[in-house]
Amino acid sequence: MCGIIGAVAERDVVPILLEGLKRLEYRGYDSVGVAIIDQALQGLRRERVAGKVRQLEQVLKQHSMYSPIGIAHTRWSTHGKPSEVNAHPHFAKDKVAVVHNGIIENHQILRQALQQKGHIFQSETDTEVIAHLIHDNWLEMGDLTAAIHHSLKMLQGSYSVAILSPLIPGTLFAARRGSPLVIGVGVGEHFIASDVAALVSVTQQVIFLEEGDIAHIQRDSFIIYDFRGQKVERELHLSHVQADAVERGHFRHYMQKEIFEQAHALRETLAGRVYNGRVLEGIFGASEARLFAEIYAVQIIACGTSYHAGLIASHWIETLAKLPCSVEVASEFRYRQPLANPNALVVAISQSGETADTLAALQEAKRLGFGPSLAICNVPESSLVRTADMCFMTRAGIEIGVASTKAFTTQLLALLLLTVVLGKHNGTISESDMEGDIVHSLEQLPHAVDMLLRKVQQPIKNLAERFADKYHALFLGRGIHYPVAKEGALKLKEISYIHAEAYPAGELKHGPLALVDANMPVIAVAPNDALQEKLKSNLEEVHARGGQLFIFANHRAIMQASDYITVVELGEIDELISPILYTIPLQLLAYHVALIKGTDVDQPRNLAKSVTVE
Ligand code: G6P
Repeated sequence: MCGIIGAVAERDVVPILLEGLKRLEYRGYDSVGVAIIDQALQGLRRERVAGKVRQLEQVLKQHSMYSPIGIAHTRWSTHGKPSEVNAHPHFAKDKVAVVHNGIIENHQILRQALQQKGHIFQSETDTEVIAHLIHDNWLEMGDLTAAIHHSLKMLQGSYSVAILSPLIPGTLFAARRGSPLVIGVGVGEHFIASDVAALVSVTQQVIFLEEGDIAHIQRDSFIIYDFRGQKVERELHLSHVQADAVERGHFRHYMQKEIFEQAHALRETLAGRVYNGRVLEGIFGASEARLFAEIYAVQIIACGTSYHAGLIASHWIETLAKLPCSVEVASEFRYRQPLANPNALVVAISQSGETADTLAALQEAKRLGFGPSLAICNVPESSLVRTADMCFMTRAGIEIGVASTKAFTTQLLALLLLTVVLGKHNGTISESDMEGDIVHSLEQLPHAVDMLLRKVQQPIKNLAERFADKYHALFLGRGIHYPVAKEGALKLKEISYIHAEAYPAGELKHGPLALVDANMPVIAVAPNDALQEKLKSNLEEVHARGGQLFIFANHRAIMQASDYITVVELGEIDELISPILYTIPLQLLAYHVALIKGTDVDQPRNLAKSVTVE
């Protein structure tokens, strides 16, 4: 959600903080700020803007800052509108500066108590409560370190925080509960960040803080205390995130880069997982064979695009592995009190592995007594990966565009591999025939994606112009391609702000047909599958009412192009991987429409890449 970075070094850390903020901006980007201990003033100084990092940079050109210690933050508003006064860092007098990611649930009670004691609040945020609470406890206890530890215990809710104070000018305090935070270990300097990607330009050595950890970080050392207040050692990891993985290269937007990286990403997902026509054993972890042996059902939980991947996978799991499969939005699952099936494999799908609802839903499934759990995730060491019994890394590489693309297609490939493994355990996919055919299709996938991108790029660019004056769009699909239509609609609404809805085409006559006129483009995902004829009748209904049809079809389109019908031919497509391939032109369509609409493609308004709050 929000992004945190902090640094303590011998050199000036302000450029490091700004660079880190740019790499964290995908997490939230409605306001931004930085605070340092000014060596001349021997006190705190901050600059904040209700805008993006580049605006903060402009401000810093006028009011330059230098310091060997500082914290910075990019915000996605939860409490209080995006404004300078609500932007972090928040101060309590000139004694405490705090940046925070998460939600403090008891902030109102704490705020009232602190106000009664005379503390004056400037902002509407829950974060400011943390700063005043520490200040208040310091006044009572006379020891800032003790006050920080005590204050953090008083907070309910989730947080990662970084704290700075001129009372202890060489130390950064950092704590984690429910939101991610890493320590970057440099040579004679240390850093903290919400995400390793923020640190790629300064260090590759990182330590992932665990739930309840509080760290005291100085230039040449650091100490970590666990939730009981015991000193602990946490493992040092070598981050494999490369600096160029977070560069845009020659692409205009990250989303465009990520769409075109999909073939490579899919190759990475597959590498070392299949061999000689077989899916290798243990790709879901060493305990795969033991845990899958007792599985008779599958429960998928996820949010957003990852939820759509789950919807598609349920078709594969039921038709190929012959296991009943339910899919539910994580934010609903976690509060519904579902009936637990101890033989149901819980599959939590998440690009970031930090989505609060998905994480909580997984914890709830464990608490209720569901069977073993598997995380399908793109971020190693994420909270989800650490919580699940098994994990499968999609290896899509860092995804920065808020609208998910390569993470989605690699999740689908992961879910196809899961289908095969589950099918083998369930005796529905024998090694000799079916497995070999499936693996063959999967191996064709990266090349097919490359070819498709080449084929459809220009036609889709042209087609996008027809959406320039549109405010609504309807996406239709049937069967396994209905969730593909949902994903197409989500992409379009996320980045072009066109109101887009997806319907199973058979439902058209039960309501949405009333919306069809010349101003409502209808986009149909129309492969040559068993439902083709049924879909054709649905599309005829649109055509008969003067609707504008945009049909994405294989080499044999179900309707002829005409004044009211535009056909985008995708060529011959293998049925198994068809949902993955049909997603690609819909991603491109959303991208090109957004370009025409002039929106902020990579950072669409009001959204964030990683939603670590409820
Ligand atoms: C946010 C992002 C979406 C993403 C969803 C779930 O809403 O903007 O792109 O699909 O979170 O994220 P996850 O990291 O759990 O896949």
